[in-house]
Amino acid sequence: AGVFTYDPGFTSTASCDSTITFIDGDKGELLHRGYPIDQLAEKSHYLEVCFLLLYGYLPTSDELESFESTITRHTMIHEQMVYFFRGFRRDAHPMATMVGVVGAMAAFYHDSTDISDPRQREIASHRLIAKMPTIAAWAYKYSIGQPFVYPRNDLTYAENFLHMCFAVPAEQYNVNPVLARAMDRIFTLHADHEQNASTSTVRLASSSGANPFACIAAGIACLWGPAHGGANQACLEMLKEIGSPENIPEYIARAKDKNDPFRLMGFGHRVYKNFDPRAKVMKQSADEVLDLLGVENNPVLATAKALEEAALADPYFADKKLFPNVDFYSGIILEAMGFPTSMFTPIFALSRTVGWVSQWKEQLNDPQMKIGRPRQLYQGETERDYVDIENR
Ligand code: CMC
Repeated sequence: AGVFTYDPGFTSTASCDSTITFIDGDKGELLHRGYPIDQLAEKSHYLEVCFLLLYGYLPTSDELESFESTITRHTMIHEQMVYFFRGFRRDAHPMATMVGVVGAMAAFYHDSTDISDPRQREIASHRLIAKMPTIAAWAYKYSIGQPFVYPRNDLTYAENFLHMCFAVPAEQYNVNPVLARAMDRIFTLHADHEQNASTSTVRLASSSGANPFACIAAGIACLWGPAHGGANQACLEMLKEIGSPENIPEYIARAKDKNDPFRLMGFGHRVYKNFDPRAKVMKQSADEVLDLLGVENNPVLATAKALEEAALADPYFADKKLFPNVDFYSGIILEAMGFPTSMFTPIFALSRTVGWVSQWKEQLNDPQMKIGRPRQLYQGETERDYVDIENR
């Protein structure tokens, strides 16, 4: 019958070999293909990091130009998909819309779903990376009742996303380069994170040979939860509820109370037992954006800073090695840019798409690949005889 290891929540199970991302949780280190995340956030940009994750090396300028033009050519979505969007209620959460629309890509782009053909895999990857900003922006536009804004190929990936979210036909929209840079940095900081819950979901779905768009829709569904990608929305809502620094002790006490389900959102991580290196860059970015927008004495930022300080000084958080994670500061930046909280997790999803796709491709090329099939520790009844309904 074989030997099984019992590991609820996969706290100590490695499910695959990978050469994409390395995390040292004790040191607070994150490397993509060997390059530290802070160097990538500082010196590179999102589409270059996409190339790096997908192909394993930093591109030459010709390679980068050709990759960027390929992604740009795929930014439009099939016009029929407009009707699919229109079928949703206006008050749908944009993540719900995204799960549906990305899953539906399997029906609109069935030419790129033959996973046995490496060229088709390539096209599916490019389509996903290129179209995700359009899908996320359209989910937003639909929810606020504004017309869909089509992608513009003369803009960068981040500029184009801001344009599709904030432009309206009635007036000229000029993307602020500092905001576009901050947006690009948010994309870069979320690009991949090895075998987290949503990536493992994508790999498990794909292990059966499933359609790539369906696999990514499964990843989006998993990311939505507040313990994972949904934490950025939950964190900003929590900061607003706390309201001002003087209420912090009450919330710290609640987070420490075992009988209260409340947790400090944006704190703690399964792997990082030190500062999340992404949070450090995000914090700096939050300062820059708020400076630029002239949002002085922003109460949410003031609460966030005071909360971080109070939690780090508290022995409960120190003993359990709970530090701010990537989601602690991202929401403040997104809110300052004008995004509603419901768009925070869709932005995480679009950023993480390259990670999901890179891991999906790596898995399909892995000679060890087999269907993922966890076992269980059965705790139910032993065999018993069926009882007719009149005798129960
Ligand atoms: N506030 C208060 N206590 C906490 C928190 C928190 N945010 N996180 C963990 N703990 C406590 C927890 O109660 C447990 O205590 P005890 O050992 O006494 O039972 C201990 O710390 C270990 O926690 P755990 O739940 O066993 O750890 P985990 O690895 O299963 O959970 C986590 C990791 C990220 C789900 C968790 O820290 C959490 O819920 N954080 C808040 C949500 C959040 O910010 N998530 C975003 C993660 S980063 C973005 C991403 O990759 O998606």
